[in-house]
Amino acid sequence: MATINKNYDKLQGAYMFGEVAKRMKDFVEKNPSLEIIKLGIGDTTQPLTPAVIKGLYEGVKKLSSIKTYTGYGHPKGDVRLRNALVDFYKKQNIDLSIEEIFISDGAKSDSGNISSIFGLENVVAIADPVYPVYLDSNVIAGRTGEFKNGKYKGLVYMPCNESNGFVPTLLKEKADIIYICSPNNPTGSVATHKQLKTFVDYALKNKSVIIFDSCYAQYIGDDSFPKSIYEIEGAKKCAIEINSFSKWAGFTGVRLGWTVVPMDLVVEDTPKGKINNLWSRRQSTMFNGASNISQEGALAVLSPLGQKESKKLVGYYMENAKIIKKSLSKLGFKVFGGENAPYIWLKSPGKLTSWEFFDKLLKEARVVTTPGSLFGSEGEGYVRLSTFADKKNVEKAMKSIEESLKI
Ligand SMILES: Cc1ncc(COP(=O)(O)O)c(C=O)c1O
Repeated sequence: MATINKNYDKLQGAYMFGEVAKRMKDFVEKNPSLEIIKLGIGDTTQPLTPAVIKGLYEGVKKLSSIKTYTGYGHPKGDVRLRNALVDFYKKQNIDLSIEEIFISDGAKSDSGNISSIFGLENVVAIADPVYPVYLDSNVIAGRTGEFKNGKYKGLVYMPCNESNGFVPTLLKEKADIIYICSPNNPTGSVATHKQLKTFVDYALKNKSVIIFDSCYAQYIGDDSFPKSIYEIEGAKKCAIEINSFSKWAGFTGVRLGWTVVPMDLVVEDTPKGKINNLWSRRQSTMFNGASNISQEGALAVLSPLGQKESKKLVGYYMENAKIIKKSLSKLGFKVFGGENAPYIWLKSPGKLTSWEFFDKLLKEARVVTTPGSLFGSEGEGYVRLSTFADKKNVEKAMKSIEESLKI
């Protein structure tokens, strides 16, 4: 008799995210003449830049000729792209070899799959609120107990709230695998060198591993914040970094990301290179490489012109962040994030819960947000606004809030 993986039954989030879509649909059905403005989902809206389009086109063109056609590529990704990433890191004074870089179809898959190379007995630490993939992938794997009173048993939660600037602080409990996302989804906070150093020091001391998701690194405009965990001394011995072209260059649909597994990374008493080998084995077993067309596009992103254009694209969304922050602050709201990250973390007025504030914004101002409580219990009392919308819609949303929200 076949049996199911009963860990799936422990998952909480999916139903609640569906609830956002349901409430939106209900509203539209009841108010067909009203336009709703979506600032909920963190999905890009602006077209790819000309250099990237040219790169993608080159990729397509190559497939049209027997001389340049390629099928399956190198399992770790196109050597040219990995070399370009080595150069990209070198400019940040980080030395990596191409063997340490694995190209993938995006940061979601890698951040969900990475834990498969670690034992089930590892204790996992996640921030609260959290990007749900880190949590759910470990629930599915069986690294947690039951969900009770808003928390999974066996998991270490690192509360992120106003008192610590929404950046996780050093753990009191011992943890073996620590997930950190900076700049952060959903709170828009960014960790400083000093804050990341406490985690690196902890990981080195306790032989833990840090999974660092830096897929919003290019949104850091203030150079005093680290864009990579490897800016912290010793991090190559204890950290894996996951990154993506999705939010940096509009690749949410094109799909491309990368993961760095340094040769120096050791856990238990494994020899150097062992963890890198495990990820290589996992990927070559379960993944057949990223699309060759997407990789041409990513090479274009990393070209000098591509980087210049992508910076402008990031600037476009950060301009949206400025508009939202300014307008909501003017109305007297407590507004966080949005300075070196594309998310705004908005505190509900009074004692409204995340869902109550979500409903109020939808019904009174027709603006769709994401309830903070969906990201964890510490997210209760907040909503997240994504800045990845068209500027016109952001302006419309702010005007509607200013004019129609009963504060
Ligand atoms: C923190 C974080 N990591 C990873 C991802 C997924 O990125 P990708 O499109 O590369 O799969 C997202 C997307 O929203 C994210 O917010």
